[in-house]
Formats: sequence, structure tokens, C-alpha cells
Amino acid sequence: MPDPLTLPVAPGFLWGASTAAHQIEGGNVNSDWWAKEHVPGSLCAESSGDALDSYHRYPEDVRLLADAGLSSYRFSVEWARIEPAEGEVSRAQLAHYRRMIDTCLEAGVAPMVTLLHFTLPRWFAERGGWLADDAVDTYLRYVETVTTILDDVRHVVTINEPNITSMMLGASRRTNLDAAGLAAPDQQASDVQAQAHRRAVEVLRGLGPVRAGWSIANQVFQPAPGAEAARDAYAYPREDFFLEVSRDDDFVGVQSYLRTIIGPDGEPVPFGDDVERTLTGWEYYPQALGEALEYSHRITGGVPMIVTENGMATEDDSRRIDYTRGALEAMARAIGNGCRVDGYLHWSLLDNYEWMSGFRPTFGLVAVDRTTFRRTPKPSLGWLGEVARTGTLPA
Ligand code: NOJ
Repeated sequence: MPDPLTLPVAPGFLWGASTAAHQIEGGNVNSDWWAKEHVPGSLCAESSGDALDSYHRYPEDVRLLADAGLSSYRFSVEWARIEPAEGEVSRAQLAHYRRMIDTCLEAGVAPMVTLLHFTLPRWFAERGGWLADDAVDTYLRYVETVTTILDDVRHVVTINEPNITSMMLGASRRTNLDAAGLAAPDQQASDVQAQAHRRAVEVLRGLGPVRAGWSIANQVFQPAPGAEAARDAYAYPREDFFLEVSRDDDFVGVQSYLRTIIGPDGEPVPFGDDVERTLTGWEYYPQALGEALEYSHRITGGVPMIVTENGMATEDDSRRIDYTRGALEAMARAIGNGCRVDGYLHWSLLDNYEWMSGFRPTFGLVAVDRTTFRRTPKPSLGWLGEVARTGTLPA
């Protein structure tokens, strides 16, 4: 049995869980991802369909989180609902998200609002999305629209994982393919998102006491023996570029799941068969979180961090608890080494729609019946709630 460990977190530390609109709401028909799910021969394993019907059931989701003892809920607002056609703002949808914010506040849960979590309105995607000439202005108009409902929201994430979006655009435009056929991030998409983010942070700061940042996929690139230089060359455009943009932010969101080992030839080294894998095929490696925090701390020059996502896809909930324990121990060590961490939000509150992979990889602290939408908390939800309430990792 491991010893109980008191976590070195400051009062006011945010303990919570994260979700994203498209992955839980259902019926997100005006979004580009919905279109992608429905093209003939789609590469998505299945359609998001009704997802978890959280568009209607969010009060229950917030209640489960609050009852467990968690103090923060990160969710995203869906641009495709708020602006279903260019220039046409839906007051009803804005009011819907305002009700979500109020539901959190009434439950004593601090809402953390992500303005953009991968999905774009179809009209914007059809014009080129981030590669459209007026992408920054178009996004900024949307951000300004959302600011009208952000009263009493203290944490706002402008863009979720811009580095992954740039990688995906790099892959679809087939720019900078490396020897393994993998694409480096698309530079134009990276620059545009960086500009959009900086301007959004300025707008959000105009609101008063809001802390603004963005969430980066921290992929923990480790060098194989003798491959330090190859590792640095590999990591720079993928991660450091985006972390450097965060240097003036109020916080940076750290999202950690796994590590990638880079060989001397500058390519990722495949894992051996002896390595434990999660349902997404990723290596089981909870220590990645500590390394992601220390790395982000270094590259951003010490900007406060919030773990905005961390978790694993598994059918074995006791393994999820082990993983989370390992990740939180690693976080505690990183804090001991001088990192400032202001929150830990687990991915995910609910078993949800995992993009290309559909509903099979289950990341949730709460199971959801795909037919009745009935929610069933897993032991990991109670476990994380106890950590939140006591500030201690139970033995
Ligand atoms: C990061 C993404 O933000 C989220 O949407 C996704 O489900 C998780 N990683 C797991 O892959």
C-alpha cells in the first residue's frame, strides 16, 4: 500500500474535470466535425449522434461533479451553435451557455470556459477555417460575442490544443512530411492561431478579473540515448512554439497523456510489445504529467499552470485511479521543484465521444449508458473527490 501523501497545493487550487461540447452535447449539426462524420467513407469510427445528450442533461453532470467534492468544471461553448450562419448570432444559444455558467456557480463550482475546442462552424470551415484570409478577425468577432455571457467566469481557455489543430492541418495539406510520413505542424495555422490567441487574451483582459490562457497538448518528447539534438529539433515546432506564445498569459493549460521517445534519426521510436497500453493505444505512463509541467514551466518562463486535461482511456476503473495517483504524485514533485500549478482538471468527467475513435475509448469518471443516457459514477469519481476535499492522496 502506498503512503498517504499530502499534496503541496495552495488554498483555492481548482480540482475538477473537463469536457468539450461536441464530445458530450449531441446533435451538433452545424459543425465541421459533424460534416466530417457524415461524409461517405468517413474516417470517423462512428457519428457523435446524440452523444451524451449533455446539451439537455448538463444540470445532472454539474451536480455529479459538485456532489463528489470537485470545485471546477471545464466545458466548451460551441461556436457552431452560437453563430450557425455567418454574422447570425443565436441569442437563445448564448442564453443556454449562460444558464450552464449559472448552474455551476449555484452549485459552488467554478466554471472554466473553453471558447474553441477543435470544432468550427461549417460556414467558417468551408471558407478555409484557420487558413481563411480573415480567420483572426472572424474568430475575434465570435470571442467578443461570447464575452457578453462571461460575468463571474474566472478562467477562460481561448483555443484548445492549437498544436494538434496545426498538426492535423499539416497532415491534410501534407506540408513538411517527415521520413515516417508524419506532418510537422502547419506554420500558417500556427501563426494565425497564435495571433488569434493574443488578441483574444487582450479582449478577455478588458473584462476585469478574468484569467486567460490556452491549453497545449504537452506531448513530452524524450530523447532516446544520444538523441538530445534530434529531440529538440522535433519538439520545437510541435510544442515550444505554442508555449512561447503563452509567456504573457495569466496561465497556461497543460494537457498530458503520454510521452513520445525520439530516436537519433529524429523519428518517434515505436513502443515494445511489453509496454502497457491504454484503449487509445497510448503507453500507460502517468509520470508524463510531471515532465510536462516542468517542461512547460521552463519554456514559458514560469507562467502559472493549470492541468486542464489528464487521464486515460480504460475499462478498468481501478487502473484509472492508479494512473491518476501516479500523475498527481508527479505533479506534487513538479510543484516541489518550483512549478506553480493552480489546478488539476481530469479528462474526462464523462465517457464521451473520442473524435475519430468514436465512443469506444472510455476516459470518464462517470459511465453513460448509450441508450438511456443514464449516468453512473465510477469509483474514480469518488476517489478524486476525496483527494479534492482532503488535499491528500489516500493510501
Ligand atoms: C485532448 C482533447 O482536447 C480532447 O478533446 C480529447 O478527447 C482528449 N485529448 C483525449 O484524446
